[in-house]
Amino acid sequence: MSNVKVSRLVYADFHSTNVDGMVDYYVNVMGYSITEEKDGIFYLSNCLDHHNIVITPGDENAIKSLGYQLNRKQTIEEVYVELQSKGIVAKVLKNAKPGIAELVELQDPDGIVIELFNDIALSKNGYSSSGIVPLKLGHIAFCAINHQEVVDFYQDVLGFQFTDKIGENFCNFLTCNMDHHVLNIVASDQSKLHHIAFQLKDAGHQNASSDLLQKFNHPVIWGPSRHTAGHNIATYHYDPDGHVIELYTDMDVFLPELGIFEPRPWHKELPLKPKVWNSLSSWGTEFQMDLSKI
Ligand SMILES: [Fe+2]
Repeated sequence: MSNVKVSRLVYADFHSTNVDGMVDYYVNVMGYSITEEKDGIFYLSNCLDHHNIVITPGDENAIKSLGYQLNRKQTIEEVYVELQSKGIVAKVLKNAKPGIAELVELQDPDGIVIELFNDIALSKNGYSSSGIVPLKLGHIAFCAINHQEVVDFYQDVLGFQFTDKIGENFCNFLTCNMDHHVLNIVASDQSKLHHIAFQLKDAGHQNASSDLLQKFNHPVIWGPSRHTAGHNIATYHYDPDGHVIELYTDMDVFLPELGIFEPRPWHKELPLKPKVWNSLSSWGTEFQMDLSKI
């Protein structure tokens, strides 16, 4: 049992060979606002936080790091000491990112860089008035070579809870709050991003987002369909760097103390509890996304 407890996913920091294209996509298509540019690195906000997306120049298109806010019950020093006591290599960094005075950096068993912090500065920009403008960055899905080790790590070290699986050893869903999943971890022979997902307001917002994606030449590649695990209605498209982006609404709400999901008319089991699912789509829609491009 860990005293280190992540409360929410705050940002994804991407290495990009196409910084201008990615920034243009996040500003004009996704409706994010630039809060800061420093040393060629762009910091973009959804609304509340100084940054929710970071675009860092690089020689590859890949996740550089993921940022999570802790539950603020421990100082960063205490988090560092606890991680060390578990044999986790970590370091405390001061002012490593704008808006974050202190963070602890570590890696998961597949080498994903994790940045944990208690506080991040607020954005002054608010929600944008054009573009898709999601409610928030909702979850990250990645392929992991050390699948079970990674799943155990997020539960045992960072306080995530298991909420569902697709197949016994294929895809695990984990949460750190009331959202059905904040992470999903797909068993693979490669370690890489599977997709990144943003929450929309409702089905009307999803329809409008698909029109905007078409207008900006980022057409939907799969969906809309309602997933089984999480029951979110989802569409997927590619960003300019070829990452798969999910836009979703209607995700299940988890009640962690009770180990059940809030009832919904589309739940076939009541009460619905974490379980193993055998398919991706509850609407029977054929999954047509070209996974070879991920
Ligand atoms: Fe997803």
